[in-house]
Amino acid sequence: MDFPFSRLRRWPDVEADNLQAHDATDLLLVERALASGLGGSEIAVIGDDYGAITLALTDAGLDGIRVHQDLATGRRALARNAEELGLSAFSAHELDATLLDGARLVLLQLPKALAELEEIADAVARWAAPDVVLVAGGRVKHMTIAQNDVLGGRFAQVQAQRAERKSRLVVATEAVPVPAEPPFPVTEQHDGLVLVAHGGAFAGPRLDIGTRVLLGVLDGTGASSRPAPTVVDLGCGTGALAASYALAHPESRVIATDRSAAAVASARATMVANGIADRVVVMHDDAGSEIADASVDTVLLNPPFHLGSSVHTGAATRLFEAAARILRPGGELFTVYNSSLGYRAELTRLIGVTEQLERTPKFTVTRSIRR
Ligand SMILES: C[S@@+](CC[C@H](N)C(=O)[O-])C[C@H]1O[C@@H](n2cnc3c(N)ncnc32)[C@H](O)[C@@H]1O
Repeated sequence: MDFPFSRLRRWPDVEADNLQAHDATDLLLVERALASGLGGSEIAVIGDDYGAITLALTDAGLDGIRVHQDLATGRRALARNAEELGLSAFSAHELDATLLDGARLVLLQLPKALAELEEIADAVARWAAPDVVLVAGGRVKHMTIAQNDVLGGRFAQVQAQRAERKSRLVVATEAVPVPAEPPFPVTEQHDGLVLVAHGGAFAGPRLDIGTRVLLGVLDGTGASSRPAPTVVDLGCGTGALAASYALAHPESRVIATDRSAAAVASARATMVANGIADRVVVMHDDAGSEIADASVDTVLLNPPFHLGSSVHTGAATRLFEAAARILRPGGELFTVYNSSLGYRAELTRLIGVTEQLERTPKFTVTRSIRR
């Protein structure tokens, strides 16, 4: 295979020397597809981080590959890499029947969360061809037996292959009949708030403890008694912060935005479940890039602190920079983070004066005023 993997870029995702746009699992999945002898229209790809699998197969002459990526950043990286390499004979889909209808081979980069894998395995068994082969791959150090068990819930045969180049493929065949209703989304009732979650959404239908601490502070600081005209829940997950704010302040305009399609679908369903779908706009976007500069009064943020599997604070910094850009001067950023991360200096540098509003043994909540 002479595909120029090294020309692929992660951009607009975080780029760094130790972060690549392809890995050995991509190569194993591509080799497997090429050896199958199937046409591109019979192959679907799920979790193609920056497009390495789709583009290598398209470059090899397999036209009509269908691809699903969860992250807005991955979708943009694939589009940009495709343009750069002059490749276009593939199509992008949500995780739905249009992605999988008639597919006989599904290539999957294993997701981290088991719930996300469960939703994907169900979708493949539900919508792909009856004789579909699901080939799921990952880095050996991140793979667990529990993943095989999840695949076993939808496929009678699940066989792990020999590890190669520190990656391993697991082949699932003989899809079993699926229940009438898909297992996701799931719903959980909290104090005055309903959360709805697809498999890939942060914390599932639960209210994360950090989120809970931030909500408690918002209730107590008076931030909530002076409702802001325009509020953004940046990295909204299931939309817990946006929904709580909108329920408490019917007069505010609330935007919930996340780079994960699973999060966005969850947040939309959360707004419907709480009867506020007409008052909260949910956007699939990277770091609020479609929100105008200096147009927002308040940003609510529970930032991520893992990037893929490598601990990296770049993902949080990216959201701090986004908050700085979209807030108007004098606008407020409320952030909750693991106290061990000590983000206060960075928030002060990127946003403006930052005060600590709460500190529990585990979490810190700050308010930063945009300079
Ligand atoms: C710790 S979770 C918080 C979710 C939700 N706000 C809550 O409190 O339950 C962080 C969220 O940020 C999202 N995220 C990470 N990087 C992002 C980016 N560049 N743009 C938009 N969302 C991002 C993740 O997908 C995830 O849903």
